Amino acid sequence: MKYSLPEEFHVFGFARDLLEWYDSQKRDLPWRINRDPYRVWVSEIMLQQTRVETVKPYYMNFMEKFPTVRALAEAPEEDVLKAWEGLGYYSRVRNLQAAAREVQARYGGVVPDKPEEIRTLKGIGPYTAGAILSIAYEKPEPAVDGNVMRVFSRLLYLTDDIAKPAARIKIEQLVRQVIPEGRAGDFNQALMELGAMVCTPRSPHCLTCPVFDYCLARREGVQEELPNKGKAKPPRPVDLQVAVLLRDRQVLIHKRPEQGLLAGMWVFPMAEGDAWGEADQKELLAQGLLAQFGVEAEVLHSLGEVQHTFSHLQWNMRVWLCDWIDGQELPPSARFVSIEQLDEYTFPVAHHKIRPLLPRT
Ligand code: ADE
Repeated sequence: MKYSLPEEFHVFGFARDLLEWYDSQKRDLPWRINRDPYRVWVSEIMLQQTRVETVKPYYMNFMEKFPTVRALAEAPEEDVLKAWEGLGYYSRVRNLQAAAREVQARYGGVVPDKPEEIRTLKGIGPYTAGAILSIAYEKPEPAVDGNVMRVFSRLLYLTDDIAKPAARIKIEQLVRQVIPEGRAGDFNQALMELGAMVCTPRSPHCLTCPVFDYCLARREGVQEELPNKGKAKPPRPVDLQVAVLLRDRQVLIHKRPEQGLLAGMWVFPMAEGDAWGEADQKELLAQGLLAQFGVEAEVLHSLGEVQHTFSHLQWNMRVWLCDWIDGQELPPSARFVSIEQLDEYTFPVAHHKIRPLLPRT
């Protein structure tokens, strides 16, 4: 299916006014100091699901530690994970390093500039491919993420459900028809900038919008009704009992499996399951410690409750102080460490939130 722009939409004026605004108003961001494809790539991966202000210090630190494809490809995985600690969605950085190794081995460390090559790299989907190709190499490729879908839904009064892949494909086609010659990178970034600063999800700032005159949803007064997000599913709640298990002033931690949620990260032991009331929760945790780690422990008392929401899950964690009684040899993924040593391990934000509850030893 070939989609065309609505007749009443003024492509040329829109691109001109948007770029003029971007040229004068764009933010100084650390990934905009040059167009090095590796720098653009890292920024785009970090910016997925993460706000610009959060990303900035991480980005600068990451670039200092791993300034080139080669540096990242050759770095120990633990160091790379540590530099990402706190940003969340850790599969992003594992894929980034795997892809850097591939770029080093296959392309001599030069990020490919062909859509069909760059798209084969781990963690690079259509959005990221379009962003790198346009920003670093000035290729006329669309870079459509959630922000751009929102902007285009309003701009062109599109009522398609943006949760459906077909909507993205349609919007990519439409953006492609608007990209001005020679300025693909700035144009895509201007759309992102507009989405972040003006055409915000709630209460868009239409009165200061540089492309107010072109916006078809605004003309009908329906900008706040768009985009159509279908029925977004709320995150599924999961009840977890977490153990702060002490033995000789050391606490038990373990490394999660290499696959799945929070792969390869260090956490406190947890037991999942329905448990009504304190007695059941304590029992569930004691059983879990025995089954997972061969540790017999007394679950003493609750240290508090902590919540963390992932895109599809909500962890409701109750944290328990536990005392080691007896045990066999720990599995290789688990160990006792002192509270001071915890900083040497990469913990997800969900479990960083547990740290303030730890007793002073
Ligand atoms: N969000 C995603 N990519 C971005 C970029 N290059 N600049 C600002 N915000 C972004």
